[in-house]
Amino acid sequence: STARMTLDSAFVVAEVSPRLFGSFVEHLGRCVYTGIHEPGHPAADETGLRGDVLGLIRELGVTTVRYPGGNFVSGYRWEDSVGPVERRPRRLDPAWRSTEPNRFGLAEYVAFLRRIGPQAEPMMALNLGTRGVTEALELLEYANHPAGSELSDRRVAHGDKAPYGIRLWCLGNELDGPWQTGHKTAAEYGRLAAETARAMRQFDPELELVACGSSNRGMPTFAAWEATVLAETYDLVDYVSLHAYYEELDGDRDSFLASAADMESFIESVVATCDHVGARLKSAKRIGLSFDEWNVWYQSKWREQAEADPLDWPEAPRLLEDNYSVVDAVVFGSLLIALLRHADRVGVACLAQLVNVIAPIMTEPGGPAWRQTTFHPFAQAARYARGGQVLHVAAESPTHETGKYGEVPLLYATAVRDPESGAVTVFAVNRDQRRPLPLEVVLHGLAVSEVVEHSALADADPEARNTLADPDRVVPHPVPGTTLRDGTLSAVLEPLSWNVIRLS
Ligand code: AHR
Repeated sequence: STARMTLDSAFVVAEVSPRLFGSFVEHLGRCVYTGIHEPGHPAADETGLRGDVLGLIRELGVTTVRYPGGNFVSGYRWEDSVGPVERRPRRLDPAWRSTEPNRFGLAEYVAFLRRIGPQAEPMMALNLGTRGVTEALELLEYANHPAGSELSDRRVAHGDKAPYGIRLWCLGNELDGPWQTGHKTAAEYGRLAAETARAMRQFDPELELVACGSSNRGMPTFAAWEATVLAETYDLVDYVSLHAYYEELDGDRDSFLASAADMESFIESVVATCDHVGARLKSAKRIGLSFDEWNVWYQSKWREQAEADPLDWPEAPRLLEDNYSVVDAVVFGSLLIALLRHADRVGVACLAQLVNVIAPIMTEPGGPAWRQTTFHPFAQAARYARGGQVLHVAAESPTHETGKYGEVPLLYATAVRDPESGAVTVFAVNRDQRRPLPLEVVLHGLAVSEVVEHSALADADPEARNTLADPDRVVPHPVPGTTLRDGTLSAVLEPLSWNVIRLS
């Protein structure tokens, strides 16, 4: 049977923040070294930044880039990462049992963002695991103060006269997790986050601060953690963080394909928790959501491996280098849809991560860079949803039963309208593994009259992947036969597919 949707220009959910297309660079595995930074590579510039990777990052449409971790940040000593490279120390990183050579640091990160282009914005995470208020203030002074103080003058002496102007800061990372260096209780972390935020605001009240929410919604302290932390920090922070990774478990593909159902209810639970604290405080302020780690990640496989064979402090090892299939890309696309559908509260989102480590872009040391299957939905969404308004989607769809999430609709969709041109883009997933799904969209008050493009990512082999040997095995293809007549769009969504339908 047919899935139906109605779109109306009057029903706008929210404007899409450019920060929804953020990503994440952690000192982990080969994300930095031989990922974005590889001196001597044929495509590298004089500073070691790989031009081929920069080109792909621009094509991906990434905006905000979170740095330098992740778990790594909870042992991070920012001073190690500045000044003349030959004088920087080699340090052991307990989070990933790797050696950090500090050849790429704070100044290189800022230079990397500048090379991406004006859309790239820093999002700096602070170490609230092994460190605290003093070091946060010192880093802030080094990075953001123009000159005339010890630390700002040190930055100038290191070669960067202009301050970095970092506005968005994460107050630590996943401190609810027992695996986190410097793990804390909610009360301990809430106090530390509040003290740090208060001190940072004395320096600059305009900063935007993100408090750590739970590492994932399966944590035993989920929601209680957020409530305790926000009770301490409500007036001091702008966002609370969410992290979620999905994988196919026990061969239950239908549940995996419905992962966005979990992501949506996670978002809604965090919104409810934030608003509950706001109500208790009788505050008119609304806390935003920073979904600063999301992706498909075959985490259970990695955990087994890491436990069986702990690393012996290598430099830039091959870690978390998941190779994504068509199924993974369809799930990934549906996670993007979930974020867009909640653009009224999700103000920041970071795809974890950017290069090599659970990443849309892969590289070979000394060799090429290539696009994973997941690269394509992200690039399309960043291109056609950025700057747009998300429209409320009133949908009716056939459903099917899933082991984890009960009955879920086969159609999962959102739509974005460009306020300037009036163009509308529908992003839609067909979760049915075997059958095509006919779709009819009734358009009200939208000044569109033709189908510009219907593109799909789908394949007769749902396990198909891009690899070094065959980097363009899976790319989006045009879908013929999609029409727009008398205000109704008609399309057929291929089985297990991610679709972008552009109307003007
Ligand atoms: O993105 C990989 C890791 O996942 C991050 O370091 C950590 O914050 C999360 O658990």
